[in-house]
Amino acid sequence: MNPRILILFAHPAFEKSRVNRVLIQNLSGIEGITFRDLYQEYPDFDIHVANEKALLEAHELLVFHYPMYWYSTPSLIKEYLDLVLEHGWAYGMKGNALEGKQMMHVITTGAQEKTYGKAGSNHFTIRQLLAPMEQTASLCKMHFLPPFVVYGSLLKTEQELDAFRQDLEVLYHAFLDKGIDFEKAAKVSCLNSLIPELKK
Ligand SMILES: Cc1cc2nc3c(=O)[nH]c(=O)nc-3n(C[C@H](O)[C@H](O)[C@H](O)COP(=O)(O)O)c2cc1C
Repeated sequence: MNPRILILFAHPAFEKSRVNRVLIQNLSGIEGITFRDLYQEYPDFDIHVANEKALLEAHELLVFHYPMYWYSTPSLIKEYLDLVLEHGWAYGMKGNALEGKQMMHVITTGAQEKTYGKAGSNHFTIRQLLAPMEQTASLCKMHFLPPFVVYGSLLKTEQELDAFRQDLEVLYHAFLDKGIDFEKAAKVSCLNSLIPELKK
């Protein structure tokens, strides 16, 4: 089977990671997934644009997986977008290379879920904070999926983190085996809420 999911993992200090270390454990072993650690590939931010474009062309689902840093992605993902999504290829009159593909974000946060929203100390929902990503996907004629989020990740036990890892794998297997119902997915704030049904 050709890989259909491209996971671009970005953690600037993976040696200190507890949460994402668990979440990504098995991903490179799943048939159908291409797993890439961007900070390992490009420690000097010297992104190989042609390689990255070829990888994007070869996959259907693009996943950015990262710890939330300052309400956004770690900086290498921004660099990746700046360099790889070229005019005339990703967007613009003749830029149709990504048309119809899906973009999804897997995010771990330090702060608890209740802090993300109008009434909380972080004021915005994660979906609102992802607005530039959603619009980037739209400009590139991609479908934007709600994120899969591990809120309050620093307080999670190893068992809880392992349950999130399993949920994430359920999501990927569902995508690979039967695809995801986009209309249904568009209605939820986080893909986590689809997991119980996908497990049936
Ligand atoms: C530089 C930096 C910025 C951070 N910014 C945020 C943030 O904006 N919101 C939040 O909820 N957590 C934030 N955190 C917490 C991280 O998201 C959290 O430590 C990480 O998701 C845990 O995953 P790990 O064990 O794989 O590192 C930040 C952490 C660092 C080091």
